Order: sequence, then structure tokens, then C-alpha cells
Amino acid sequence: MLRPIALIVDDEPDIRELLEITLARMNIDTVEAENLVQARKALAAQKFHLCLADMRLPDGDGIELVREIHEQYPGTPVAMITAHGNMETAIEALKAGAFDFVSKPVDLPVLRKLVNTALKLQQSGGDASAKVITDEEESPLRGKSSSMAQVRALIAKLSRSQAPVHITGESGTGKELAARLIHQLGPRNDKPFVAVNCGAIPHELMESELFGHKKGSFTGATADKSGLFQEAEGGTLFLDEVADLPLSMQVKLLRVIQEKLVRPVGATREVRTDVRIVSATHQNLAQRVQDGEFRQDLFYRLNVIELNMPSLRKRPEDIPELIDHLLDNIASNYQQPAPGLHKDALAALKNYSFPGNVRELENILERAFALCENSIITLEDLGTLQEPKGNCSDSIVRLDGENLEDYLARIERDILLQALEESRWNKTSAAGRLGISFRSLRYRLSKLGIDNKDEDA
Ligand SMILES: Nc1ncnc2c1ncn2[C@@H]1O[C@H](COP(=O)(O)OP(=O)(O)OP(=O)(O)O)[C@@H](O)[C@H]1O
Ligand SMILES: [Mg+2]
Repeated sequence: MLRPIALIVDDEPDIRELLEITLARMNIDTVEAENLVQARKALAAQKFHLCLADMRLPDGDGIELVREIHEQYPGTPVAMITAHGNMETAIEALKAGAFDFVSKPVDLPVLRKLVNTALKLQQSGGDASAKVITDEEESPLRGKSSSMAQVRALIAKLSRSQAPVHITGESGTGKELAARLIHQLGPRNDKPFVAVNCGAIPHELMESELFGHKKGSFTGATADKSGLFQEAEGGTLFLDEVADLPLSMQVKLLRVIQEKLVRPVGATREVRTDVRIVSATHQNLAQRVQDGEFRQDLFYRLNVIELNMPSLRKRPEDIPELIDHLLDNIASNYQQPAPGLHKDALAALKNYSFPGNVRELENILERAFALCENSIITLEDLGTLQEPKGNCSDSIVRLDGENLEDYLARIERDILLQALEESRWNKTSAAGRLGISFRSLRYRLSKLGIDNKDEDA
């Protein structure tokens, strides 16, 4: 087989030599460049399987080179070599299209992993990605709207990067589905995808859950246990509802992301970790940063690339296709043929605003499937769809002297109260109706000062 060939761009001869020796041991040939001019010449002369470039070069900025390679030689993965602790430039490089970075002094095991990932990326050549962009039927993320097409295209692109991705969007818009897709399409897809709901782990167990613990490190720790970071080694860790991380854990997570080292509870040594972080929340994280509830530095590191999942009411043209897709899935779970949908039922669904987005549509169809007779879902089988489309989702809202915050708070309060009444103030069930987590409901209630009545769940 042809030996891969890498371009090394660094003005320090020692670093070039170290990289050259390391890559040679991995059966990779190298071409060296001392500056931007030489690098450009080398790139024009031949094809490279990967490029490692220093951040600061005598005749310019390494980021410039990243941009050029990303645009002119998109099949060549490029990684940045950055000064120790300089996360700002590393993040800038990732945003410019570098697939990863390694900081000085170069840690050889880290470098070898990075190089292997680059070679896998280069081999996969983007075929898989091209497929999801063009062939919408092949993607688990359905919808023919232009906003969903953009989401699919962005996912295809960012699955090739190793940069942290932060997924935003209302409840039920497909954030977890998107996270899984990013993993599946990327070079880590032969390693685990581990999802953790940060809102569901009791605070006192969180550190051990994420980082593992040593036997005897606390009462009940009867054996060594590995954490989710170790379980996800080489793969992707999906931090769902990341806004719910307590501040004390935010500090620890920040360190792990920065240093790529985790320390199990009670351990004296740190262990190296290589995971790609994808996070998500339906809350407004920037707002939580402003409110002092989420660390700005952590937000900045998680949010290197943002992926926003559009709400269903902004893309109603996706509804019919989603209905077909979801009904097929539901029926095949029961090993039955997919039912038909009466035109009145379809019209009602098309005209509904779906506060709970695709998840709500799925729940409505699941129930209707169970209720329907003669394999036809009728309007009655859909039950009462909550508020009809109108007021807030329609084009112009009259604030009538109220400011936007108050207006939104008033609407939110009405929706929460209605859900609580309908579920007889059982918050777990109200949260389910609203398609949000229990913690999120509790947060919203306290924010709006709605009387807690008795705690349940
Ligand atoms: N575009 C889509 N095409 C097909 N199925 C979808 C799409 N979007 C969402 N779904 C389905 O809708 C359900 C909810 O999606 P998912 O759990 O990914 O949403 P979420 O944004 O993580 O929701 P939450 O905020 O409630 O956790 C899942 O069953 C998912 O498969
Ligand atoms: Mg989710």
C-alpha cells in the first residue's frame, strides 16, 4: 500500500524533527516547510494525506494556512500546533476549519491518536457526508425544508472536525438525533457514543459518574469504577442538558476539556482522555452565562461550533414527511403495516404549532396508532391538540405597551399553568406533557414565581 505523506509546517527545526521521527515510526512520509511560502509551494506540488501546522510562522499566521487548505484542498485534514494553554487560538483554528489541535510541548501519544484520526478522515474522503447532504431519504434526520437541508449539510461538515459542538433548540427538535449523527458520520464511529443527561444525575454522584472513582474513595465505593469519559474513550461523549451542570462540576469539566486529562475520584494520578464533546441544551445558555449560572469560559469551549435545530413550527412543510416516517417506525415496532391518515387529521396536524416539536408529533401519532380502528387515523384519534396555531407563532404580535420579556413570561406562565392543571399539579407528568425535563420545569416555575404547591416526583 502507498505510504501516506504529511506536510509539516513549523519554523523550529527541533519540532520538525520530532514530528518527522514520530510519523516515520508510523510509516508516514513527511515533507517539511519552514514558513507559509514554502507550505503553499509544497501543497501546490503534491497531494498530502494530512498537514500539521504551527500557529505562529515567520511570514504569517497558521490560521491563514488552515483557511487556505480548508478551501483549496478540502480533502486534506489540517491540525494546528498551539502554544501550551492557548485555548483561544486553538478555538480560532477549529472555527477556521482545522480538524483538531495539539499543544506544545507535543505529547506523543496524543499526537499519534490525532494522526490516526486524520488518516481515517482522509480515507473516508467525505463520501458519507456527501450522501446525507444530497440524499435526504438516507438521513435519519427527515424534512425537506431548506432549514433541515442546512442542518444536514452542517452536520456532514462538522462531523469531520474534532471541535466541540453545542446543539441548541427547543425540546423535541432532534438534538440527540443530531448528536448521534455527528458521531456516526465522523472518524470516531467505530468507538462508543455515550450520552449522559446532566440534569438527571444527583449532584453528589456526578463527579464519580463522569470521571470514575477508586475503591474506598467514599462510602459505598466498594470497587474501582470507570466513568463516562473512560467509557467513551476514542469516541463521543454527549453532554445532554449541559445547562444543568452544577457550577462545581463546570470547573472540573473545563479542566478536563482543556488538559485532556481526567482524575477519577480518590485517584492520585490523572489519566489521559480522548473524547469528542458534543453538548446540548434547550435552555438559553448565553442567558444563563449572563445570569451567572453558567461559566463563561466553559460556554466558550463547548460552543466552538453551534448547531441550531429549528423548531417544527418554523418549518411546517416538513410535517407530512415526518408523519409518514414516524408512522412507519411506530407501526414496524408493532410489526404492523403503517396506518392511513384521514385528510381531516392531516389538516389538523398541518395546522398545529407543536410546542413539543417532533417529539410531540411522535407522541400524538403513537397514541393515535393505538386508538385507531380499521387502520385509519381519524381526527378523533388525535385527541385535543393544544392551543391552535395563531397568536404567538403568527407573523405580527402586538405587544400593546408590554415589553417582550413580560409578554413571553405571561405566555409561558399560561402554558405552564395549563399543563399543571391538566396533570393535577403532578410536575413529572406536566413536564412530560410539555416535552421538557422535570428540572427544566422546576427551573421555569421558580423563575416565574409560580407557587410550588407540594413537591412530587
Ligand atoms: N428531523 C427528524 N426526522 C426524524 N425524526 C426526528 C427528527 N427530529 C426528531 N426526531 C425524532 O423525534 C424524537 C425527539 O428527538 P430528540 O430526542 O433527538 O430531541 P431532543 O431535541 O433531544 O429533545 P429533548 O429536548 O426533549 O431532549 C426522537 O424520537 C427523534 O428520533
Ligand atoms: Mg434530548
